[in-house]
Amino acid sequence: MSQQQRGRFITVEGTEGVGKSTNIDFIRKLLDKANIPHIVTREPGGTPLAEEIRNLLVVPREESMTELAELLLVFAARAQHLKTLIEPALVKGVWVLCDRFTDATFAYQGGGRGLSADTIDQLQNLIQGDLRPDCTLLLDAPVDVGMARAGARGALDRFEQEKQVFFDKVRSAYLQRVEQEPERFSVVDASADLATVQANIELVLQSQISLYKGVNNG
Ligand code: TMP
Repeated sequence: MSQQQRGRFITVEGTEGVGKSTNIDFIRKLLDKANIPHIVTREPGGTPLAEEIRNLLVVPREESMTELAELLLVFAARAQHLKTLIEPALVKGVWVLCDRFTDATFAYQGGGRGLSADTIDQLQNLIQGDLRPDCTLLLDAPVDVGMARAGARGALDRFEQEKQVFFDKVRSAYLQRVEQEPERFSVVDASADLATVQANIELVLQSQISLYKGVNNG
């Protein structure tokens, strides 16, 4: 390979309590086993400054945050994360496995808070240029299943404190994204048992790894 091949940008999405952390850990191990250089990161966050912005977003406070303030904070964190961590890694051929990305903005700020997809799209173009994930795994489960799991974890953050109706809108917005870009998304039924979920995730990852290693190039 004379020219450095760009790393693949894989994102994992879903509503609360669908098992993102456990399954991101599983994907990390698959990439280790395949000897693929990678980093694992998350949004909002991923750099010290972006993690500070994350705190502003998730810690419950007396003053209610306006929808637009929330949207701009999400993209402020993303701008920092992209330029200082994600893009440099991809350019070096390192894969980036990211716990949530802009689909979460379309789902939470768009579906959940009711901001227009057009507004989010404009910020997406401004902050990301043409950078989009190569593959997005949506862990999908009925909202009440996930909320029960998230609730069992202890103190709820500012988003987790929302009601079921909010998360129903978030889930619908995610599924709408899948309809708009079916080739980028792989939807995994996260209400199945863990072994089944992980077998499905492994299939998706194997196909990404094959693409990267050129096995499918004939
Ligand atoms: P986490 O629970 O997956 O760690 O993410 C923190 C919260 O941030 C989660 O409730 C979803 C929310 N979020 C948004 O509202 N918009 C976004 O663009 C992102 C990345 C996350």
